[in-house]
Amino acid sequence: MADTVTMTDNRTGKQIECPIIDGVYGAPVIDMKSLYKELNMFTYDPGFMTTAACRSSITYLDGEQGILLHRGYPIEQLAEQSSYLEVCYLLLYGELPTAKQFEDFRANLNQRNMVHEHLERFYTGYLYDAHPMSMLIGVTGALSSYYHEAMDINDPVDRELTALRVIAKMPILAAHCYKHSVGHPFVYSRDDLGYVENFLNMMFSVPMRDYEPPAIAVKALNMMLILHADHEQNASTSTVRLAGSAEANPFACIAAGIVTLWGPAHGGANEAVLKMLAEIETPENIPKFIERAKDKSDPFKLMGFGHRVYKNFDPRATIIRKVCHELLDELGDEVVDKNLLDIAMELEEIALKDDYFIERKLYPNVDFYSGIILKALRIPTSMYTVMFALARSVGWISQWLEMMEDPEFRIGRPRQLYTGSESRDYVPMDKRG
Ligand code: CMC
Repeated sequence: MADTVTMTDNRTGKQIECPIIDGVYGAPVIDMKSLYKELNMFTYDPGFMTTAACRSSITYLDGEQGILLHRGYPIEQLAEQSSYLEVCYLLLYGELPTAKQFEDFRANLNQRNMVHEHLERFYTGYLYDAHPMSMLIGVTGALSSYYHEAMDINDPVDRELTALRVIAKMPILAAHCYKHSVGHPFVYSRDDLGYVENFLNMMFSVPMRDYEPPAIAVKALNMMLILHADHEQNASTSTVRLAGSAEANPFACIAAGIVTLWGPAHGGANEAVLKMLAEIETPENIPKFIERAKDKSDPFKLMGFGHRVYKNFDPRATIIRKVCHELLDELGDEVVDKNLLDIAMELEEIALKDDYFIERKLYPNVDFYSGIILKALRIPTSMYTVMFALARSVGWISQWLEMMEDPEFRIGRPRQLYTGSESRDYVPMDKRG
C-alpha cells in the first residue's frame, strides 16, 4: 500500500498501517498516533533523535547539505541583505515586510521599549559577580508578573502583543545584566537608534557620554544576531514549546528556554571557545593543543570545531567568518586582547590544513567566530550566552506563537519505558530487615 508503513507486532501478528507524511523538504515522518490505541505500544527514542514533535513552517535545516532557511529564505541572503529586526518580522509573521509594515513594526516595538522601574530592582538582588545568565533567567521570569492576569493567551491580539514585548524588552534586560555587573547606571532604550546601535548604547554609554559604535561593529553584531535567531526544534526551543503547551505564561516559557540555553552542551560553546584561547595563551602553544585534540586518551577537544547536525559545513560559520575577519582587520589594534584574537586566527589556519580535521570534516562552527566577534566588541565572556539568548528570543516566541495556533496543539507529555520495581507491599519501618 502506498504512503504507509506497516507495523507488525510479531508477538501477536497484529498489524497497523501508519500514514507517511511528507514535508516540503527533509525526511518524511511516520504518523504514529494510532500505535498506542491499536497495538498498545509506545515508541522509544531517547534524546528525540528521530521524533518530529510538531509541524513547523518557520525554519528548515539540512545538516548534510549545510542548508538553513528561515521561512524559505536562505540564511546567506538574510545575513548579507537583511537586518536582525527584519528577520524578527519574518520569523514572526512569515513574510518579509513592506516598507510601511516595517515602519509600523518599529513603531509598535518603540511603544514597548521600556521596562517597569520596579523590575530594575530585581537586579539589585543579585551580587555584582552573579552570572549574567542567572540574572537574565530571573528578570525574564519576573516579566510574567507584569503580564499575567490582564493577558489572555487564547486571544491572538494578546499573543501578538506578547511577541512584540519580548522583542522590545529582551535587549533592555540583557544590557542591564551587563550594567549591573560593572556597577554602571542602567541606560534607557532609545527610539531614534537602530536595534543594534540601541543595544550597544544601552551596554556601553555612560551618563557622561553616548556610545557611537564603529559601523563594522554594528554590521558584525547584526549578523551574529541574525545567525542565531532561530534553529528549528533545538533543546531550548523545545523547552519553550513544552512549557507553553501547558499554557504557562509565555514570559515564564522564555525564561525556561534561557535556562536550557545556558547549558554548555547548547549555548555555552562560544564562552568555552574564549576560555580555551586563554588557556592556549600564546600562538607558540597551538601545536601542543592541536596534538591534545587528536589524542583519544585526552578528553580535550578544540572548542568551536565540529557540529552535531552540520557534518559538511555550518552555513552560519561560512558567513560569520567573513565578517569576523573584516571586523578584526578594521578594528586592528583597537581590539582588546589582540593576543587572544591572534591565537584564534592562527588556530583556525593550522586546523584547516591539518589532516585530522580535514578527514573528519571538522570546521570551525558559528560559535568559534561569534565568540571572537563578541570579544572584539568588548562584550565580556560571561555575557556571550546572554547574547545568544537575546538573538534566539525571537525564535522562541515565534515557535510559541506557531504552537498556540496549531490545531493539533495539546499538552506535551512524553511516555516512558518503566524499568523500576514490580508492585510490592509497604513494609512498616520496624519490620524492615
Ligand atoms: N576536536 C577534536 N576532535 C573532534 C572534535 C573537536 N572539536 N569534534 C569532533 N571530533 C572528532 C571526534 O573525536 C571523532 O573522532 P573519531 O572519529 O576519531 O572517533 C570525530 O571527530 C567525529 O566526531 P563526532 O563524534 O561525529 O562529533 P559529534 O557529533 O559527536 O560532536 C560536537 C559534535 C559539536 C559535540 C563536537 O564536535 C564538539 O564537542 N565540538 C566542540 C564543542 C563545540 O564547539 N560545540 C558547539 C557546536 S555549535 C552550537 C550550535 O549550533 O548551537
